[in-house]
Amino acid sequence: MTISSTTSPLLSKKRRDYTPPSHTIETVDLRFELSPQETKVTAVSTIKRIDTQSSVLFLDGKDLCLQSIKIDDQILTENDDYKMLDNGLELYTSLATFTLTVVNTIKPIENTSLEGLYYSNNAYCSQCEAEGFRKITYFLDRPDVLAIFTVSIVSTAEADTYLLSNGNLITDTGFENGERTCVWEDPFPKPSYLFALVAGHFDKLVDEFTTQSGKKIALELFVDEGRLGQGQHALDSLKKAMSWDEQNYGLEYDLDIYMIVAVDFFNMGAMENKGLNVFNSKFVLADAHTATDEDYFNVEAVIAHEYFHNWTGNRVTCRDWFQLSLKEGLTVFRDQQFSADMYSDLVTRISHVNVMRENQFAEDAGPMSHPIRPDEVVEMSNFYTVTVYNKGAEVIRMLHTLLGKAGFRKGMDEYFARHDGQAVTCDDFVNAMQDANGADLSHFKRWYSQSGTPRVRVEQASTGDSQTTLSFTQINTPTRTQAQKQDLYVPIKLECFDKNGHKVDTRLKNDTLVMNSASTALVLDVPNEQITPSLLQDFSAPVLIEYDYTLSQLLIIIEFAGNDYAKWEASHNAYIMLIKEIYNAANGANNNADMQLRQDIEKLATAIKNLTVAPEVLAQILSVPSAESLYSQIEKVDPIMLYHARHKVVVQLSNTLHHFCIRHYLRLSQNPRPYAYEKQQVNNRSLKNTCLHLLAHSSAETVAPLIALQYKNAHNMSDRLGALKAAQVTQDDTFDSLMIAFEEQFGDDAVVMDKWFAMQAKSSKTDILAHLDLLQAHQQYSIKNPNKVRSLIGSFAFYNTLGFHQIDGSGYKYLTDYLITLDKVNPQIASRLMTPLMQFSRYASTNQVLIKAQLNRLYGVKGLSKDLFEKISKALI
Ligand code: PHE
Ligand code: ZN
Repeated sequence: MTISSTTSPLLSKKRRDYTPPSHTIETVDLRFELSPQETKVTAVSTIKRIDTQSSVLFLDGKDLCLQSIKIDDQILTENDDYKMLDNGLELYTSLATFTLTVVNTIKPIENTSLEGLYYSNNAYCSQCEAEGFRKITYFLDRPDVLAIFTVSIVSTAEADTYLLSNGNLITDTGFENGERTCVWEDPFPKPSYLFALVAGHFDKLVDEFTTQSGKKIALELFVDEGRLGQGQHALDSLKKAMSWDEQNYGLEYDLDIYMIVAVDFFNMGAMENKGLNVFNSKFVLADAHTATDEDYFNVEAVIAHEYFHNWTGNRVTCRDWFQLSLKEGLTVFRDQQFSADMYSDLVTRISHVNVMRENQFAEDAGPMSHPIRPDEVVEMSNFYTVTVYNKGAEVIRMLHTLLGKAGFRKGMDEYFARHDGQAVTCDDFVNAMQDANGADLSHFKRWYSQSGTPRVRVEQASTGDSQTTLSFTQINTPTRTQAQKQDLYVPIKLECFDKNGHKVDTRLKNDTLVMNSASTALVLDVPNEQITPSLLQDFSAPVLIEYDYTLSQLLIIIEFAGNDYAKWEASHNAYIMLIKEIYNAANGANNNADMQLRQDIEKLATAIKNLTVAPEVLAQILSVPSAESLYSQIEKVDPIMLYHARHKVVVQLSNTLHHFCIRHYLRLSQNPRPYAYEKQQVNNRSLKNTCLHLLAHSSAETVAPLIALQYKNAHNMSDRLGALKAAQVTQDDTFDSLMIAFEEQFGDDAVVMDKWFAMQAKSSKTDILAHLDLLQAHQQYSIKNPNKVRSLIGSFAFYNTLGFHQIDGSGYKYLTDYLITLDKVNPQIASRLMTPLMQFSRYASTNQVLIKAQLNRLYGVKGLSKDLFEKISKALI
């Protein structure tokens, strides 16, 4: 460990300082004597020395109360045999192999960090990734130490109907003489972060899956009492994921049982513990009455993600946490492929591209910018980021593009053949890909070490009378920790059209121009003024393209492009162009802006009306990009002005397309069938609700009754929420009364009420801050529940532009006050909630000053967590 010079006086770890462990743990026998107030943990490990020079074994430990410690049969004494340190204990021994017995206690009920073993909603639950196991017992809590776990759980509460851990149940004593013991054995060696324990009362849904080799797997889903009816979709999704992985990667499940537990108190989406996944209940529970189509989609995606980890993460795991993207980037890529196969290629792709543009580009432009394989970390929890996950997946996607489907599969096979059962690095993964294909990926590897979003500037010029040259230049701007940048491998999928919309022959293989250096040119046999390029189709690389389109060019792409992605992207670019024009006009640049906007929207609307595309494609084309996705394109943006500029464009679009939207809306509202989560219904609902939302922006009075009627007649959550969101646009009495009705109907459903809290938090009421105070007093609200905090405070800070960016700075102050309190309860959630403040450098100087004042205030708070401290110190340097 070294003191970081660039960040803070806190201890930071550097990737280049990796050293293998001095010892390894071959088996561990854990015994839990459960009690919410004080749980006793006995850990018996067989330990082997690896480094023959070593006479010290360091074990991680945090918030533990040590009772006794023994090597073989000898009880150890403090200071002679071991020493307690802040972050663990040091054991003095030169034995080559020995048995270590550690007894300690922990306090699950007091654990509000939701890391380690905690007790909430009358159940015990553990969360160990990344470094939570050290809050359970003293251990080599690092992913390159793989042990075989046996776990005994002892409960004296008859109400704990299930005592669960990883692997196979080998003993269940039943409740007798005041206690019950269950013993679990996991035959696969695993790192401590994949350990799990769950105990309490649940309802259980069971199913079965037969693998391609004929093995029967028991599937068990545990949910809160009374919620069985909301579990079937999750189980169905699991079975789909299991057969998808067999078909696409030849990967089969390896244990006899697969368990999933849904809990209301969870820091993240879900966790891939071996054989015992723990899920945030919002990614499990779904039925027509309570879940939207989007919720169904997300449940399926997260269930698949965790299942896919069994191979990409568990069977082959990470050597150290700097390699996190090894498992996360790859597994996100796999779940994206799965979602595209299950539902729609296009809509799935668009939703992931939006995450990149709205969130990842922002992270890469801010003080937390890091490569997908970070070089330096203070608090690991701070690196479960859109960069590691989503940009990581984009990098894997480029490999897939580069090697082709078959080549990628060959590389995956090679990766498992080499590394099954091992803890490895990102380099190991790329090397397997490289060797299996006889490719040279040394230049490609730069994506793993370079942070920041590359910009690709595209210029178009005449070459003689009859030719055009498109020149591509990469711009890799220095970031906080990397002053020097290198050029990267950038595949740009593109098509060019002439003025009649005919596709111009580019002579490119797979329509893809590959940039292997800082600049490249493409020469076309068509005169300059006739060329329209459609660039970065399918978002073929995680870069920003800079090309100055005219509206007519974008209209050509919308009309003539052969693929829907290109049409969507062009409409998206057209909206961005128009929003920027209005934004600049508000700064006094153009007095005719309004008239110009009307004319431009007319043209765009005509092009949209003439399209013959599937309903879900039209729905995407009618969705104006969020203001957040525009932040990366406007220097020192005034968020309120941008909000109004965007609003103006949406209103104009709404008025222009009024009849068109009404027509679609009425057509799609007729004769609804009983709800099912199936493609055709989902696509039609998506277009219907997009039309309603757009209509809500128009000045026509016919819309309010439509909204009220849809709410009243809704027989599923997609339609109900669609109506509610449309009502929110108008912010009239209808909205308030619908919100009251919604609360009456769903007041006891924690997952559904998160939607209600989020809607409240996004309200444009002028007294929003007082309103937030009131909502915190709501009986369903709790600062200890991350879902509630995210729904209310998160939605406010991330999405309530007018409320959060108030010019007196009160929105920033509100969030900061909340963070100070939350940090004491749950530092991980506080740290993630800080993101809107981290991005201050994107804003106009008035906003920047106000945000920095709050960051400085936060910096001065005593006893701040490592999580917050790392981020603030980076922000303030
Ligand atoms: N590994 C989990 C996933 O991506 C995420 C997670 C990280 C959950 C840390 C909890 C804690 O599937
Ligand atoms: Zn994951």
